[in-house]
Amino acid sequence: MIVAIDGPSGTGKSSTSRAVASRLGLSYLDTGAQYRAITWWMLANGVDVDDAAAVADQAGKPAIVSGTDPAAPAITVDGVDASGPIRTQEVTAAVSAVSAVPEVRTRMVEIQRACAAAAPAGIVVEGRDIGTTVLPDATVKIYLTASAEVRAARRSGELKGAQSVADTQAALVRRDAADSGRKTSPLAKADDAVEVDTSELTLDQVVEQVVALVGEKR
Ligand code: C5P
Repeated sequence: MIVAIDGPSGTGKSSTSRAVASRLGLSYLDTGAQYRAITWWMLANGVDVDDAAAVADQAGKPAIVSGTDPAAPAITVDGVDASGPIRTQEVTAAVSAVSAVPEVRTRMVEIQRACAAAAPAGIVVEGRDIGTTVLPDATVKIYLTASAEVRAARRSGELKGAQSVADTQAALVRRDAADSGRKTSPLAKADDAVEVDTSELTLDQVVEQVVALVGEKR
């Protein structure tokens, strides 16, 4: 059982994916955390993230390992827990540039496919290109959306007011444009994905819908 959950930032992908995985006894993989982890490593090692050739050159260096327990999805870089540092605004601002580099994507997709293949009961994988590129044969494909206003309000709440809703919305829209506009596996809805607009739904309602869709395929 492979459940692919894609969509832009702030649509509730992580909360939904973790809850669905827990409910169904599946593993969980946050591919955004992996792109954040390699970005964090690039910044920590003084690599100019706007220099695609420099990023490509270093892409094979860090060892990135994702935990797949939906209750505690840790991520390590060269054996160091990076769960906190990958969520800083510095990483968020740089991640789209790093993840647009084809050598970075090739490496991450390899890790992601291996992770899915090793999951004992199946896995919920969240990202931007899971249904289109990473796992095109996924059993269930979901594409979550929500209005930019709702997404910004949610993300701003997560940041506990550290950034205004207006600034958060501008940053989200910029990141979505970069993620949708890149050449290599951009953010996109797979033709066979079910689109769920979460703007007016609670987390529980979204989880119920996804669990029901999985149930139809079991
Ligand atoms: O999901 P999250 O917002 O943490 O993702 C961070 C970034 O990682 C995205 O903005 C995107 O640039 C990149 N990403 C990607 N492909 C994925 C998952 C995330 O390019 N499958």
